[in-house]
Amino acid sequence: MQGTPVNLRYLKLVDMKHGLFLKITACLIFSATTVFGQKQVTEGFNFTEKQLPVMLSEINAARANYNNPKLLLPRTLTKSGGLSIVPVSDWCSGFFPGELWYLFEYTKDPNWLSQAKKFTAYLEPEKFNKGTHDLGFEIYCSFGNGYRLTHDTAYKSIIIQSARSLSSRFDPKVGAIKSWGKMGQGKYTVIIDNMMNLELLFEATRLSGDSSFYKIAIVHANTTLKNHFRPDYSSYHVVNYDQATGGVIEKVTAQGYNNESAWARGQAWGLYGYTMCYRETKDNKYLVQAGHIADFILHNPGLPKDLIPYWDYNVPDKINQSRDVSAAAITASALLELGTYSKKNGKEYNSAAIKILDNLKSYRAKVGETHGFLLLHSTGNAPIKVEIDAPLIYADYYYLEALTRLKRLNAHRPVVQQ
Ligand code: GLY
Repeated sequence: MQGTPVNLRYLKLVDMKHGLFLKITACLIFSATTVFGQKQVTEGFNFTEKQLPVMLSEINAARANYNNPKLLLPRTLTKSGGLSIVPVSDWCSGFFPGELWYLFEYTKDPNWLSQAKKFTAYLEPEKFNKGTHDLGFEIYCSFGNGYRLTHDTAYKSIIIQSARSLSSRFDPKVGAIKSWGKMGQGKYTVIIDNMMNLELLFEATRLSGDSSFYKIAIVHANTTLKNHFRPDYSSYHVVNYDQATGGVIEKVTAQGYNNESAWARGQAWGLYGYTMCYRETKDNKYLVQAGHIADFILHNPGLPKDLIPYWDYNVPDKINQSRDVSAAAITASALLELGTYSKKNGKEYNSAAIKILDNLKSYRAKVGETHGFLLLHSTGNAPIKVEIDAPLIYADYYYLEALTRLKRLNAHRPVVQQ
C-alpha cells in the first residue's frame, strides 16, 4: 500500500468491506434458500413414506374388487370416490412405478426397491406397443428411472425396444411423431404433451449409440417449436397436419378452454420439454424457448398468487373453476432444471419452484386418506368433465421428481442425474 494516495487506500478499504458485505449477504440468502428447500424435501418425503403404503394396500383392495388381471396401476379416483386402477396400456401406467423409484432413491430402503421393481416389471409388454405416443411417459418414468438407479441391462434393452416402437410413429414429411390414432388413418395429430416423450428417444441413443432416435427427437422438437407456439409463447394444445404435404391444417384444443386459450398443463409440458431438449442437445434455441415459456407462466395475469394455476390461464369466472395441481408440479420440476441453465433468471426460476413446492402443502391429502394419493385438486380433462378437482397420479410423480431435484440442488449436485 506504500505510495498509494490516502483517498485511494480509503476507497479500496470501503470496496473490500463492501465486497465482504455482499459475500456475507449472498451466503445468508443462499443458506436461507437451502435450509428452506431442505425442509420441503424432508417433509415431503416423510409424508410420502406414510402415503405410499396406503396406496399399495388400496391397489390390492381395488384389484380384488374388480377381479380383472389387466387392471394394475393407480391413476385417479372413480366417480364414486374409489381408487381407479388402469392397465399398462394407459398413458398413466408409468407414474406409480416412477414414484416408487423416487421413494427408493430418497430412503434407500430395499422394500421400496422391490416394490419399484415389481410395478415396473408389469409394463414390459408395452415395449412393443406402436399404438401410442405416450410410450415415452410409460417407459421413461418406470424403466428409465429404474435404469438410472440400478443399471440393470434388461431395463436398457426394454428402453431401446420402446424407442424403436415410438419411432415407428414418426413421419419425416410432417417432421413429427403422431400423437393419436393409428399411423395412416385419420388426422395426423400432434399435441404439445408429445414433447415429453422425446426424453425416451434421447436416452435410447445414449444407451444404444443409434443416433436415429436422437434425430427424430430434434426434428419433432423443431417442428413443434415452429407450429405450436403463439407470438406470446403460449402453445396450442393440438396441431393437425396433412400427412401428404406436411402442412398444418388447423391449430385447436382438446383439453383447453378454447382453441386460442393457454391450457395450463400444456404450458407445463412445453416448459419441461424444451428444458429437457436443451439438456440433451445444448442447442441454445431450446433454452431460449424454455425461458420464454417460463416467463409466460410466471408473469401470467391468470396465475393465482400461490402459483398453482387454474386448469387454463384464460378460463373466465375463475371462482368456479378447478385448479390444476399437476401443472404446478410439472412446472416446479422443470423450473428447478431450467434455473441451473439460465444465467439471467436462474434465481427467479428456483425461488418460484420452491414457492410452488411450499404452497403444494396446502393441496395435499390428509395422512392415511384419499387411497394414498399425495396431492389433491388437479384437473384431467375439463371440457369433457373428466377428472375435475381430483388427485392424479402424474401430479404426485412430478411432485416427487421436483423434491428429488431440489435435494440435489441443495447438495450442489447436478439437478438431473442421468
Ligand atoms: N397427456 C395427457 C394429459 O396431459 O392430460
